[in-house]
Amino acid sequence: MASAKFKKAYLPAHPEAWSLSEIIIDAEKCTGCGNCVKACAMGCLEIVDKKARLIDGKVCFSCSACISHCEKGAVGMRGFYNVEEGIFRTMSYHGDDGYPKIPEVEGIEGLTPVEEVIYKRRSNRIYSKDPVPDVLVRRVVEAGRFAPSHGNCQPWAFIVINDRAEMDYIAEKMDPFWRLLTNFYWTGKTNPLTRRILSLLCALAPGLMDQRGISGGTAILKPKDVFLGAPCLILILMDKRGMNDPGIDVGICGTNMVLAAHSLGLVTCWLSFSIGINFLPWLKRELGIKWPYKVASAIVLGYPRVNADTMVERELPPITWRKGGKVWTEMP
Ligand SMILES: Cc1cc2nc3c(=O)[nH]c(=O)nc-3n(C[C@H](O)[C@H](O)[C@H](O)COP(=O)(O)O)c2cc1C
Ligand code: SF4
Ligand code: SF4
Repeated sequence: MASAKFKKAYLPAHPEAWSLSEIIIDAEKCTGCGNCVKACAMGCLEIVDKKARLIDGKVCFSCSACISHCEKGAVGMRGFYNVEEGIFRTMSYHGDDGYPKIPEVEGIEGLTPVEEVIYKRRSNRIYSKDPVPDVLVRRVVEAGRFAPSHGNCQPWAFIVINDRAEMDYIAEKMDPFWRLLTNFYWTGKTNPLTRRILSLLCALAPGLMDQRGISGGTAILKPKDVFLGAPCLILILMDKRGMNDPGIDVGICGTNMVLAAHSLGLVTCWLSFSIGINFLPWLKRELGIKWPYKVASAIVLGYPRVNADTMVERELPPITWRKGGKVWTEMP
């Protein structure tokens, strides 16, 4: 049983075990502006003859960024990234004919202002070069500082890099790490020996070896900009000694920050590719990152060149209810 689970751990060698969503471009509406191409973290799209189209063989992870960044409403998506077998098997509901638009509001008429932001705030991947005043960056970090945490242990620290030249320097230094990891990953497609090693790594560190992350890692290699052209980067450091699971605490902390940024007229994108720093001791030293800290994630922020805020569709996780002696799982 366990061996069957691990057999298809290295997904690129088993295309029969997974499937992609279908991205549909309405050629009538598409002006060839290229916003969807810039917004796609996986490098899945290209412009040919002034129209957007999917590039064959790229792994689309159904993130909806091409939809949210298309001001012409020319992009649609059917279905979701889906893995049928193995350790990366997706657990959400995957129907054939589309998904309900979140939210399904019941009970209270309309959305509350907080719900409105939760549902419509999107990760932005197209930034203006305008700098963010330090005073606003401080307000964003402050919102993180006041996040709840296990036992109020506050297992975080921040490195604010409100300087594009410094961000370029970090991107330059991280590039070889991502190049090495992603190049090695793709060798498994043709080399049976590395495939065996990769299958083992997929089982040991599925979070790092998920083919969606690796595809993104490939797509951000230079000359692309891992920091999405944004003017400001905040590294969120996690104190590894944090109570219970400090990853939860820093996640909440970052959520406070992106929501506060939104309320200040800024846009953001989480940037976990920044964890590359953890694998480069000399870069960690330069940035002053020492035990017990590691880079948990990061956020880029700035002003938008494209307004990406909109409702998108989301998968449905299994939701089990238990009430009055009854148990039921809600699916659409
Ligand atoms: C913890 C975390 C890390 C992420 N890291 C990256 C990243 O490194 N690069 C990137 O382009 N997007 C990154 N994202 C953005 C996700 O791709 C995005 O949240 C997801 O596609 C859903 O889109 P939405 O935020 O617009 O709802 C990250 C998101 C989260 C929550
Ligand atoms: S963002 Fe929309 S209009 Fe622009 S190229 Fe993409 S699909 Fe076409
Ligand atoms: S859904 Fe996301 S990964 Fe897929 S093509 Fe659109 S932007 Fe790229």
